[in-house]
Amino acid sequence: MSFQLKVNGVEYRADVPASTPLAQVLRDECGLRGTKLGCGQGECGACSVLMGGRVVCSCLTPVCRAAGQPITTIEGIAPNRIGRGDVSVEDSLHPVQQAFIDHGALQCGFCTPGMVIAACALLARHPDPTEEQVIDGLTGNLCRCTGYRKIIDAVLDAAKRRRAT
Ligand code: FES
Ligand code: FES
Repeated sequence: MSFQLKVNGVEYRADVPASTPLAQVLRDECGLRGTKLGCGQGECGACSVLMGGRVVCSCLTPVCRAAGQPITTIEGIAPNRIGRGDVSVEDSLHPVQQAFIDHGALQCGFCTPGMVIAACALLARHPDPTEEQVIDGLTGNLCRCTGYRKIIDAVLDAAKRRRAT
């Protein structure tokens, strides 16, 4: 079947079976490999994307459910993307991405796109989150490297920076 997807504001067409996981379509058909495929069972959060503004596990979301909904992946989270005019690497980062770098909140980086997506959704709901709200907002995203402390600090700091701008 043929599906029309709108990802990061760009239209894509995917000729795949209706049950194909959105994560697979994003990576293989759209070439958006920032979204990671980890467990494939809805347990690690590495595949998190925004669909209609809500975080979903794209490994469990069939492409037929995603068609027609606005989808945002890690490649589309920053307001100024490289490739759009004269944008430097620094200016191309979302505040959450910059805070992750500044706090050393990533090691292997496999969980990072999903973490950043979940953090962005959390900050949209709670611009001034408590530590408990951050922990709660990231509860579906697993990281085997960092021990989470730096990630939590990065999200709290990103919230502070966003409120200051
Ligand atoms: S790959 Fe989707 S939750 Fe793990
Ligand atoms: S940085 Fe390696 S899994 Fe999180």
